[in-house]
Amino acid sequence: MARVLLTGGAGYIASHTAVALTERGHAVFLLDNFCNSARDVPERLRRLTGRTFAVIEADVRDAVAVSAALAAFPVDAVIHFAALKAVGESETNPLLYYDYNIIGTIRLLEAMQARDVHRIVFSSSATVYGQPDVSPIQENAPTRVQNIYGRTKLVMEDLCADLARTGVLKAVANLRYFNPAGAHPSAMIGETPTGVPNNLMPYMTQVATGERPYLNVFGNDYETPDGTGVRDYIHVMDLAEAHALALEHILDNDGALTVNLGTGTGISVLEMVRAFESATGRKIPLNFAPRRPGDVASYYADPSLAAQKFGWKANRDVNDMCRDAWRWQAKRAGINDV
Ligand SMILES: NC(=O)c1ccc[n+]([C@@H]2O[C@H](COP(=O)([O-])OP(=O)(O)OC[C@H]3O[C@@H](n4cnc5c(N)ncnc54)[C@H](O)[C@@H]3O)[C@@H](O)[C@H]2O)c1
Repeated sequence: MARVLLTGGAGYIASHTAVALTERGHAVFLLDNFCNSARDVPERLRRLTGRTFAVIEADVRDAVAVSAALAAFPVDAVIHFAALKAVGESETNPLLYYDYNIIGTIRLLEAMQARDVHRIVFSSSATVYGQPDVSPIQENAPTRVQNIYGRTKLVMEDLCADLARTGVLKAVANLRYFNPAGAHPSAMIGETPTGVPNNLMPYMTQVATGERPYLNVFGNDYETPDGTGVRDYIHVMDLAEAHALALEHILDNDGALTVNLGTGTGISVLEMVRAFESATGRKIPLNFAPRRPGDVASYYADPSLAAQKFGWKANRDVNDMCRDAWRWQAKRAGINDV
């Protein structure tokens, strides 16, 4: 059993990870400034798991507050989720992203060093690959960041790897997520995007509830089987379980590791829409729009390194993602026939 701090602990991926860690017997402690999450998440987690989670309201950029939190709740490792994640916003407000993501990570690492915590799992993103030459993408593919958000993720990865190389950290796992989707099957926790969702699944669920009139499909002339963009969607509970296994790996193994977390299967936008319609019985009106600049035709992971290093593979498919995302969104929208 390990004691672990989740920064950004009330967020979408962290809250699901808290469930997976608890199921594996770990003691979890949440730190969040609630800039992009609801304050009732810890209470939802308590009802879901039957366990009460210690929660500290603090900003990771505040090394004194994080250090005090680590003194109050000594941990074996940190899983660092706290970050801003909207690609568009990162281009209009780059300093904000450097501040939250890079300065925030430095302050956290300082606090960890002060409290003798030397192991970290870090939330990175497949966005660091930019336009890949081929899919499936392996971890040694070139990194070609295309926006400030991606840049901050790559800098944070390098920061953690440098600290592992120089002995400040003992172990690091940089986890490159592909496209997280879905929710816990209980519909007690899920994704709560603020404003217009950037990602396909939350947008589609809001179309299904009637909150939005149609789904924009950006580009249907890509060189893919049906012309629409292909991505590697991964169920958030598979992702959560990967964090638990990565944590257990870095507790026993020193050094720096960078791994992809995806299913290894590419799904097109139209395939996802069809899966959603059949899993939920709801029709999704479509609006075909031009390609968005910077969008890639197709990318999906080679997830074999995660299997080899810590025995992880995705167990859930797009139907599970659609069903669980819909249960969560329908419940929030007060729709009961799910
Ligand atoms: N969701 C995705 O599609 C995706 C894909 C790849 C990588 N990631 C990365 O995974 C991590 C988690 O993403 P998510 O989708 O769960 O996002 P999220 O916004 O739901 O969660 C992030 C949490 O961090 C908190 N937070 C942000 N800045 C903070 C700060 N300075 N101090 C304390 N708390 C702070 C927010 O309030 C929120 O609860 C992020 O680092 C994100 O960049 C997400």
